[in-house]
Amino acid sequence: MNIIKAENYKEMSQIAAKYLTEQVSAKPNSVLGLATGSTPEGLYEEIIHRYNKGEISFKDVTTYNLDEYVGLANDNDQSYYYYMHKLLFDHINIKEEQAYLPNGDAADLQEECIRYESSIQAAGGIDIQILGIGLNGHIGFNEPGTPFSSKTHIVDLDESTREANARFFKSIDDVPKQAITMGIDSIMQAKRIILLVSGSQKAEALERLVNGPVTEDFPASILQKHSDVTIIADQDATSKLSV
Ligand code: PGA
Repeated sequence: MNIIKAENYKEMSQIAAKYLTEQVSAKPNSVLGLATGSTPEGLYEEIIHRYNKGEISFKDVTTYNLDEYVGLANDNDQSYYYYMHKLLFDHINIKEEQAYLPNGDAADLQEECIRYESSIQAAGGIDIQILGIGLNGHIGFNEPGTPFSSKTHIVDLDESTREANARFFKSIDDVPKQAITMGIDSIMQAKRIILLVSGSQKAEALERLVNGPVTEDFPASILQKHSDVTIIADQDATSKLSV
């Protein structure tokens, strides 16, 4: 794993934006795997900045998001569909029909999982997947105990994850109990992975991801087995790393 230590959150976001720009410039019809949460917000700001300067075009780019809550309509301001449009898609020239998220409001959720997974395959697979990491080591919404062989599936969210995400909702009761997420194997199929980590509260998770045993109890540990992972972490997040 390649670990890049950034000075701070802004620099982490800028470095990640540079990687994505280089990817799209080398392959204009790239397939990008995107993530939500607080961590990539700065990356999306930097991307919009670069787009406005004419440094990157999404005309031929396809994107797949990692996950979506079950039961929230697209226009619910807590859905990841809403998040992605507000923070990125509405500001760049991506085609609506090429920006995919799982549909957490589908009538048949099982079928939606299969459809989503095949859609990624049909697009030729993901060139670069952006990831964050949860305090419990989750990637996407793959909570501890998720089989490494998992494809896109429905998950029951951990209480710790619901609590961590409650800050975005009126109360914890409003946080959905389920989500659709790309599986661990779906993520591992990406040709390249960029993991962003920011803040001292993530330092322990990062240390465990890099140096801990590879175990389904800590989903992110599987990244040790991927051949092309770049971790971009700010100083606070690397405080427990000896390297
Ligand atoms: P965060 O979430 O970026 O909001 O910390 C990351 C995650 O839980 O994967």
